[in-house]
Amino acid sequence: TEFLPLKGKKILITAGPTYEPIDPVRFIGNHSSGKMGFDIALEAANKGAEVILISGPTHQKIQHPRVKVIPVMSANQMYDACHKYFEDTDAVIAAAAVADYKPKIVADQKIKKNAEEFVIEMEKNPDILASLGVIKKEQFLIGFALETQNEVEFAKQKIKKKNLDLIVLNSLNDEGAGFGKSTNKVTFIDKDFNLEPKELKSKEEVAKDIVNKIIEHYA
Ligand code: C5P
Repeated sequence: TEFLPLKGKKILITAGPTYEPIDPVRFIGNHSSGKMGFDIALEAANKGAEVILISGPTHQKIQHPRVKVIPVMSANQMYDACHKYFEDTDAVIAAAAVADYKPKIVADQKIKKNAEEFVIEMEKNPDILASLGVIKKEQFLIGFALETQNEVEFAKQKIKKKNLDLIVLNSLNDEGAGFGKSTNKVTFIDKDFNLEPKELKSKEEVAKDIVNKIIEHYA
């Protein structure tokens, strides 16, 4: 028989990019593939967890009796979906590449090309993970960080600012790591600032390492 260490645990995972609408046919997005989040979702489900996977638009596919996919488009929709499920959740893994800003005004008709220059005014999106950090009770919160400088320092600040239990720091200093790739090089930093650097490995293997941190937490 299978060993299911996360049996009975409810895990909320965010994945993919967000699309921030400009008008009915246009948006501002990013190149997140969603792969990391989907790999984590499958691994957590395989370990027995009930997974709510809240995902922006991606080409990823997932089929597992314990994974429920909630498709969203914008950061605001992702925010609402996360808050809908959060109370009933044991752990959160925020792997989505949420847009930092969104167009201030969304035109209800397609914008015509008339002017030579066109400016889109933007305003900040809500920080979904930080908002969960504010209201968390027993939930174990995991975030991601991707920095190009002072990465450990910024990651530690992010743990404090968002009230996280663990951060997964993506290294950009390694060929083959990160966005749109199938491999990743990460360092775990926990809330006591212990550092645990990992080898460059496939995103499936990174997903196993991340899910193992949750298993350890409940062990
Ligand atoms: O602040 P920064 O964007 O670097 O933080 C990254 C972490 O916060 C990721 O886990 C990401 O999913 C989450 N995040 C979020 N909502 C935002 C921005 C980031 O949940 N608006």
